[in-house]
Amino acid sequence: MSFKVAVLPGDGIGPEVIAEAVKVVRATSDKYEFEEAIIGGIAYDQTGHPLPPATLQLCRDSDAVLMGAVGGPQWENVQPASHRPEIGALLALRSELTLYANVRPAKTLKSLLNASPLKGDHGMIDVVVVRELTGGIYFGEPRERRDNGNTAVDTCVYTKQEVKRIAEQAFAIARTRRHEIVSVDKANVLETSRLWREVVTEMAASNPDVKVTHMLVDNCAMQLVRYPGQFDVILTENMFGDILSDEASMITGSLGLLPSASMGPSKNGRLFGLYEPVHGSAPDIAGQGRANPIAAILSAAMMLRYTFNDNEGADRIEESCEKVLEAGLRTADIFEKDCQLVSTTKLGDAIAEAVKEG
Ligand code: IPM
Ligand code: MG
Repeated sequence: MSFKVAVLPGDGIGPEVIAEAVKVVRATSDKYEFEEAIIGGIAYDQTGHPLPPATLQLCRDSDAVLMGAVGGPQWENVQPASHRPEIGALLALRSELTLYANVRPAKTLKSLLNASPLKGDHGMIDVVVVRELTGGIYFGEPRERRDNGNTAVDTCVYTKQEVKRIAEQAFAIARTRRHEIVSVDKANVLETSRLWREVVTEMAASNPDVKVTHMLVDNCAMQLVRYPGQFDVILTENMFGDILSDEASMITGSLGLLPSASMGPSKNGRLFGLYEPVHGSAPDIAGQGRANPIAAILSAAMMLRYTFNDNEGADRIEESCEKVLEAGLRTADIFEKDCQLVSTTKLGDAIAEAVKEG
C-alpha cells in the first residue's frame, strides 16, 4: 500500500524546515511517498496565482499534505486580495479541502522550561487548541468596501452544523486527554457566539464523560497568562482560535516548536489532513539556515499519527526531538547559555539520526 504525501514548501523559511521534516519522516520508514508542488508567493510569481490548479489537484490526489508557510512582504499588497498568498493559497486550500478542524497542541518541553516568558513552573502548559477553520469572519459574505472605500465590512456567520462538527472533534480529542473542554466565545455580545454556546451546551449534556465549561474570550486570554495549567482542550471559533493559539504557543517558549493539523473528512478510510507549523514564513531569516525545523518536524509526526495511524513512527519522532533538545542542540530562537548553536540542517540531521537509532 502506498502512502502519498503532497509536499508544499511555500515561501520564506518554508522550504528549509520542510526539507528537514521530510528527512525525518524518511528516517522512520521508506513507505511514504512525497510529491512536491508550489504554493504561495513563489507560485504567484511563477504562475500568476498562489494556489495553481495542479497544486490543488495534487492535494486532492494525496492522503495528506505537509506544508511549510506562505507569504512575505513582497506580496502583501497584491491586487486583487484573492491573489495574496494568505487568502488565495492558505484560506483557499482550507476551504477547498474542507479542513474545518484545526488542532494546535501547545506543550512545554522539560528541556525548554526556561524559554517560557512565564516564570518557572508557572509557565507549564499542556493544551490543545481546537479551532474552527472554515467558517466565521474569515469566510463571511459580504466582505467589501462601501462608500467609495470609506466603509469596510466583514461578516461573521456560523451554522449549527459547523459548530457541531468542530465540537465533535474537541470531544474526541478531550477523550484522549484529561476529559476537559473550555469552550471559548463572546456570548455576552455576539449572536454567533450565542449559537455556539447553545450547541456546545446541548452536546455537553449528551457527553457527560467530558467536563465542559464556557469562557469569554477576553477572560480566556487573561487566564492563559495567569494560570495556563488550568486548560486541557480549548474549543473555539476561527478568529478567537487564531489569536489564542498564538498566545498559548508563546507560553511554551517558542513559536518555532509548535505543530498543527487541519483536518477534514476521512478519505480512503483515513483522516485527511494538512499539517503545517504554527509559525509563518519568517522572511527576515529565510535562507540563512537559522530557522527552527522542530515545528515542521512535529507537524510531520502529527501526520503519521492522525492520517496514517503510525503511532510508532510519530512517537519516535517526538521522542527524538526531545532527546536532541536535551542534548543541548539549539537553533537561535531557543538558544540558551551552555547550549550548542546549530543550523536548521544540523538540527534536522541530529533528529533524523536519533530516529534511526531509536
Ligand atoms: C494561522 C495564520 C493564518 C490565519 C493567516 C496567515 C491567514 O495566522 O494559520 O494562524 O489567520 O489563519
Ligand atoms: Mg495565526
